Amino acid sequence: MSITVPPVSTGPLAKGEPCTLVIFGGLGDLARRKLFPAIYQLAIKDLLSPDFRIVAVGIEKQDDVSYRAAIKDALSKADDVKNFDQRVWQSLEDRVFWVTGNLTEPTVYTDLNARLVAFESKLDAKKQNRLLYLAVPPFLFEPICKYAGAAGVLPRVSDPHARPWRRVIVEKPFGKSLATAQELSKAVLSVFAEPQIYRIDHYVGKETVQNILVFRSANAIFEALWSREYISHVQITAAETVGLEGRSKYYESAGVVRDMFQNHLLQMLALTAMEPPDVPTADAIRDEKVKVLRAVKPIVVDGKTNAIRAQYTEGRIAGAAVPGYKQEPDVAATSTTPTFAAIKFEVDNDRWRGVPFYVRSGKRMAKRHSEVALYFRPAKKPMYEPCPGEGPRPNVLVMRIQPDDGIAIGFDVKIPGAALALTPGIEVAPVHMDFAYSNVFGGEVHPAYETLLLDCMIGDATLFTRSDEVEAAWRITDPLLNLWESSAEKQIPGYAAGSWGPAESDALIAAEGYSWRIP
Ligand code: BG6
Repeated sequence: MSITVPPVSTGPLAKGEPCTLVIFGGLGDLARRKLFPAIYQLAIKDLLSPDFRIVAVGIEKQDDVSYRAAIKDALSKADDVKNFDQRVWQSLEDRVFWVTGNLTEPTVYTDLNARLVAFESKLDAKKQNRLLYLAVPPFLFEPICKYAGAAGVLPRVSDPHARPWRRVIVEKPFGKSLATAQELSKAVLSVFAEPQIYRIDHYVGKETVQNILVFRSANAIFEALWSREYISHVQITAAETVGLEGRSKYYESAGVVRDMFQNHLLQMLALTAMEPPDVPTADAIRDEKVKVLRAVKPIVVDGKTNAIRAQYTEGRIAGAAVPGYKQEPDVAATSTTPTFAAIKFEVDNDRWRGVPFYVRSGKRMAKRHSEVALYFRPAKKPMYEPCPGEGPRPNVLVMRIQPDDGIAIGFDVKIPGAALALTPGIEVAPVHMDFAYSNVFGGEVHPAYETLLLDCMIGDATLFTRSDEVEAAWRITDPLLNLWESSAEKQIPGYAAGSWGPAESDALIAAEGYSWRIP
């Protein structure tokens, strides 16, 4: 069953303020595959100021002309750019510049600042805004902050309303543990003020993730049921079919808990479980997320945990054979890095006490699919049993994050024509109502980076992670990482690539009588 509704146009978006975007790591994967495609989309939608420009910095020997050619090539191949349009690129290319330099040496920052000042000298003071993007591996965060601060590329400005503004975007991973995150935070905060720092978790920039909060608060019928009184448990899934994508070195030292749980999945959990803030300001929303993260019960108690991990072995995805994790290039044959985990979280507050949040994520799974599914408590005294002996089925509300973005709710109905005799199990059938974004809002794409870059250009920090949130999330995952990484086990369970994970994952959720939804 699907809902038919007239097409709705998307709301008007504020245009980005004039600024120079400085991309450190201008030829890196992130810049080529995500940032430039997002900027290209903003150009199509006319959301860039005429006084917007990009200065990319990197160690590669390039000049403006060769860099522009490299970016044009990357755009024409990018997943997020459908039908590359030469005219859109022409509106951008003259505004793209390159500075060569080693980011661990101070001189490059002096050159960069001179170039920025030269551009800005032609502009009104209020248009001389600067946005720095650290699209680089984490070991470069500290030197960039230190030297960019010292050279005046990005001076410290504590007042978020000061003009021209100075902002810096930091990519995950924010540390490898609570201690390293705190060190990083200290280093960054010794140069910049917190309101200048935009920590990106691109999952939160996804329309469907933002919608979790809006959907709840805009619809009283759901908000009224959003608690332990009506919800038995919650399942959050982020399943990927991709493997390492050439990132073995990073992934070997990260694993699925650092890569997906500490950030994306705990953000989804926080948005699902948080109290609606009194006012919808960036800080009020982030305060509520922090409260939920702090209310998550320890996931390791006396050396025991309600979490399982596994690593993919060879298998088939979309009909093609794929190697196991240990056979991937640059992965040790003895590696115990988990590529899948399933964890039971409990939020110890009045709204959620006793409601398990089962969260799972893995690479090389059967299907690319992310969702949040809320299982309602079954009817207390139904007049029928859908299947004799099975008891009533729960209603399930599924918020599909990607792909096929949408929301579905399942319920039972009487089968038309059947006698209303309430004979167990014969008149009732499960159906679902399904809202698909594409049916209602058309196929317009809003890649997360597009939203997030625009938000930085207008100074809306709502979708960015504050340092207290980052630390609260590490406090949850650290004990589990310590437990698993100090284990003497030489091998962790496996799951075949192309499957829904190991048997241990099914057993984890079955312990309380539930089973994972197969999307
Ligand atoms: C990144 C992880 O943060 O998120 C990747 O480092 C993962 O390993 C990616 O593949 C998933 O994001 P998306 O938007 O592709 O679902």
